Amino acid sequence: MATALPGILDKKSFVVITGVGRGLGRSIASKLVEKLPPSSFYVFLSPDHTGQESLAGNLSTSHPGVRIRTETFDQGKMDQQIFDNLFVDILKNDNLEPEEFDQVIIVHNSAIVGDVSKHTWDLTEVTSLVHLFDVNIVGMILLNAAFLKVFTEVTNRLIVNVTSGNAIRPYKTMSTYCAAKAARDMFFRVLSSEDPSIRVITYSPGHVDTDMLTYVRDNTADKELADKIKGLHRPFTYMFIHRPFTCMFYRLVVYEPGVMMEMVNQNPKEII
Ligand SMILES: NC(=O)c1ccc[n+]([C@@H]2O[C@H](COP(=O)([O-])OP(=O)(O)OC[C@H]3O[C@@H](n4cnc5c(N)ncnc54)[C@H](OP(=O)(O)O)[C@@H]3O)[C@@H](O)[C@H]2O)c1
Repeated sequence: MATALPGILDKKSFVVITGVGRGLGRSIASKLVEKLPPSSFYVFLSPDHTGQESLAGNLSTSHPGVRIRTETFDQGKMDQQIFDNLFVDILKNDNLEPEEFDQVIIVHNSAIVGDVSKHTWDLTEVTSLVHLFDVNIVGMILLNAAFLKVFTEVTNRLIVNVTSGNAIRPYKTMSTYCAAKAARDMFFRVLSSEDPSIRVITYSPGHVDTDMLTYVRDNTADKELADKIKGLHRPFTYMFIHRPFTCMFYRLVVYEPGVMMEMVNQNPKEII
């Protein structure tokens, strides 16, 4: 299965990454800028403008000439015009043509875990529930479709769906996040069956030391879960931020295109 796949790192790419202001997304964005050809073009999409601007600034210093467009983007804001116009406007404003890229990549990294202070029977608030599914599913589907619509003519299209072990295992107080991750995975299974020429990678990074995990640790109503996360601080059971992506990147390079691929990386030793 691990056949060398030449070219992926050599292709001039149009790259979209959601949630780059912090956490895993920041790492993914940095690594892609480091590895892909300098002629590539990057779109960073995050609600927090400051975080992504600081990353873009750092990358412009370390990689002079890199082309990065940052857009303040809330994936939970259900505004048809935003999804209809986002990529059309970016291409227009930056004088880009879809055909000038050999490869297009979208990394669906953004996600929220929702209110972990409650069990399922206490999920009574309409607004917070709808918001969770808007950010994690509806907005992602709309963004994905907007992206594919603009790049229909590009042969090499790659989608990275950042998933979680929560998609396949129940975690108390995380029901909505678990359900959303499972739904995303199935969504991309269907997409992959509809058009096998689109390369889909569903990537589960394992535990990563980010704000998300800290938030769950400090707010979950399930003491066992909080204790489990605290226990991850033992050496080699907790992922450092760049390591999961290094693994994902390796897998990206060596696996065959044209099929949906699932990668669950729960063993840190695998990437040391
Ligand atoms: N940490 C883990 O242990 C772990 C394990 C398995 C899977 N994952 C997955 O890895 C991905 C990244 O998680 P992380 O740990 O890096 O989490 P994080 O530190 O909480 O970062 C979440 C990212 O999502 C963005 N985001 C939040 N709300 C958004 C919205 N309304 N619209 C668009 N973007 C939004 C944030 O943007 P801003 O920076 O602008 O705030 C942030 O960059 C997620 O898909 C998560 O499910 C994480």
